[in-house]
Amino acid sequence: MFNEKILNRFKNSTQIAVLTGAGISAESGVPTFRGKDGLWNNYDPQQLASPQALSQMPETFWEFYNWRRKKLLGVKPNLGHYALVDMEKLFDDFALITQNVDNLHREAGNTNIYELHGNIARTRCEDCQTFIDQPMSFTLDEKVPRCPHCSGLLRPDVVLFGEMLPQKAFRDAQEASATCEIFLSIGTSSLVEPAASLPYIAKANGAFLLEINPEKTPLSASADEVVQGKAGEVLPNLVIQIEKLK
Ligand code: OAD
Repeated sequence: MFNEKILNRFKNSTQIAVLTGAGISAESGVPTFRGKDGLWNNYDPQQLASPQALSQMPETFWEFYNWRRKKLLGVKPNLGHYALVDMEKLFDDFALITQNVDNLHREAGNTNIYELHGNIARTRCEDCQTFIDQPMSFTLDEKVPRCPHCSGLLRPDVVLFGEMLPQKAFRDAQEASATCEIFLSIGTSSLVEPAASLPYIAKANGAFLLEINPEKTPLSASADEVVQGKAGEVLPNLVIQIEKLK
């Protein structure tokens, strides 16, 4: 599954950056966005996951996000998430950049995480920007949850279509990509900018680019190596191999 070129790189490197997408959570039962059974096949993201939806039809907006929150209740990290926790312990400098909002990397136990698209488990006020210190289940029975401080509209702390990424998380992710020796792209279609640009930043700065995905993506042709397979199967194997080298 892993050739000598890949294993030698891991043996001789200390700085690793990982970018994950919805594919790493697929084996936990969280639907991906594109492809067969993808969430965006059934829902128009512009209609539901946009600032306009929040301000103009907050009930529909919250119906969609409460449905997504409900689906995540009881969902657990899988072997792929846990392998990245083990991997973090093996390297001096390990950055986990994720496009996922499902909180599963935190739940698994990774510590150095940059959440580019936010985290659906957090809630904040659209008006006063206060973060609400409640588990995500507190909105489930609310049609339009309101801020306890200013009565403004509450929203999940996720990036909606047309919004900027959280600037600090994105700057840190760019920095980690520019300085890493190995960049791992896992379970992402590599279509959504600006996250999709990160592997190219890494490669332009001399990193070894490794992609793990059961399908080919637009990144595959630029990768130094592609391991075609599921994250929950490939990653635990990779960590075992790296542990043997260390
Ligand atoms: P996509 O749904 O676009 O792509 C999921 C990728 O995961 C595909 O390339 C699949 O082949 C791959 N995949 C499926 N099962 C897998 C498995 N078991 N192991 C590894 N890979 C697997 O999801 P993202 O690339 O994450 O943004 O989408 C990026 C962004 O688009 C999301 O963060 C979201 C969406 O619109 C926002 O909501 C802002």
